[in-house]
Amino acid sequence: MKWYKVFESEAVANQTIAPQSAILLQIGNKRLCMARHSDGFFVTDDKCPHNGESLSKGKVNYLGEIICPWHNYRFSLKHGIECENRTHDLATYSVERREDGIFVGISD
Ligand code: FES
Repeated sequence: MKWYKVFESEAVANQTIAPQSAILLQIGNKRLCMARHSDGFFVTDDKCPHNGESLSKGKVNYLGEIICPWHNYRFSLKHGIECENRTHDLATYSVERREDGIFVGISD
């Protein structure tokens, strides 16, 4: 697994991503969704497994699910599972908070 620094610190991440929302991250040729929930930061693929909408345009609910803005399917940020199993799982990525920043791990 290769680790990519996406923020210099947690404070910078908190300034960039509002609570219960998400942003688009581009790492190499991957488009990822980085979401903020009260449990921390989570990273998933940005492309909704249902019909391809950008999940980083969605909102995060109190259950820790990202809600797709197109058809409102809800995916667990931790496990990638759609809450009613209406489509296949969303890929999730490891996030680490270290002294020198916030990192995302992507398998080679
Ligand atoms: S495209 Fe995301 S729920 Fe349909």
